[in-house]
Amino acid sequence: MPDKGLEEVIAASTRLSDVDGRAGRLWYVGYPIQDLAERSTFEEVVYLLHQLRLPTEAELDELNERLVLEREISPFLADIMPTLAQQTSPMSMLRTSVSAASAYDPDGWENSAEANERKAMRLIAKTATLLAVYHRLRTGQDVVPPHPKLPHAANFLYMLSGQEPDQEDAAVLDTTLILYADHTMNASTFTARVIASTLADMFSAITGAIAALKGPLHGGANEEAMKMLEEIDDPSRAEAYVKDRLARKERIMGFGHRVYKTEDPRATVLRRLSQETGERKDDPRWYEISAEVERVVNAEKGLHANVDFYAASVYHYLGIPTDLMTPVFALARMSGWTAHVREQYSDNRLIRPESEYVGPRDQTYVAIEDRG
Ligand code: COA
Repeated sequence: MPDKGLEEVIAASTRLSDVDGRAGRLWYVGYPIQDLAERSTFEEVVYLLHQLRLPTEAELDELNERLVLEREISPFLADIMPTLAQQTSPMSMLRTSVSAASAYDPDGWENSAEANERKAMRLIAKTATLLAVYHRLRTGQDVVPPHPKLPHAANFLYMLSGQEPDQEDAAVLDTTLILYADHTMNASTFTARVIASTLADMFSAITGAIAALKGPLHGGANEEAMKMLEEIDDPSRAEAYVKDRLARKERIMGFGHRVYKTEDPRATVLRRLSQETGERKDDPRWYEISAEVERVVNAEKGLHANVDFYAASVYHYLGIPTDLMTPVFALARMSGWTAHVREQYSDNRLIRPESEYVGPRDQTYVAIEDRG
């Protein structure tokens, strides 16, 4: 019998990240996620995932410079962006523009390890610009060029709002990018590795990963969680809302996980960030609604919050529009996806599982005019 949803199937070997679902632990290259969230930066995690070790100061400086230099998008992407801003949702824009980015990549179709490392850094750097340009255009505002002195997270908030962000806001966003950077064989990473295993190019693999992330059972859950918080609107309404939804057999987005049987360690960090950011902004309501939803879902179903649940209120506090929350997840995961694609290429074998046939057998073909 096939394992529906491939639950117990080990689909690849990786040196990038590891999860202990029973203990609620996650590591990148052996480093506990809590330590990275507390002490590292997104750029350092990019280095870690791509080089499989922490950088020296000089190495990190060099990576920072490279990422800053890669922030501008090509004239081709800038030209198609007004149409995408008018016609497509943010995740569709990202999927389309990452696919289109292959057209003018300086490394073209070269698939060497060195070319793919350069493509990876370009994708990581440019995703922030794509999202910000799209958002500025769709809201009728001037595009804000990247700020060369700001790190990745701060620069993204700057390009989005046109103002240099509060340092604490930038630090909170940076931490969320670290938490979202990689997560073993999740659906979008698996998709990227399947595509890479055919030796299709990195842009194809990442385009597929973005498509997989879009769905509400995966990355789309943070947006759905925020919509739910907005519908509930007040902590006193959370209990009735959750019970009603569960009675109708509807899922509560941001809860449950295929791997974690206890609390997702990323949710632990994000809960604290949501509470602290709500207090700092003198607007505790979104945290309070979230905490009440969590209490009821836990009591009613025994389900724990996953990474997407508290990410929703955190992003809301940072002024990130609800429909950009999944794209911000993609902005972070771009680091993990590209590292997995490179890992797949480095020791490749076509990923091609079997299926179990359950349809009819030995049928006799009947000519179309004789079918009743
Ligand atoms: N709300 C309500 N019930 C949920 C639930 C949720 N968020 N997540 C799981 N369940 C229930 C299912 O209804 C099912 O109950 P049943 O056995 O009575 O039918 C049971 O838990 C197992 O669910 P299943 O879909 O088999 O688990 P899975 O491992 O395939 O699913 C998720 C994992 C993440 C897809 C699932 O928990 C979910 O849909 N969560 C909401 C979306 C989400 O937050 N996604 C982001 C994940 S990081």
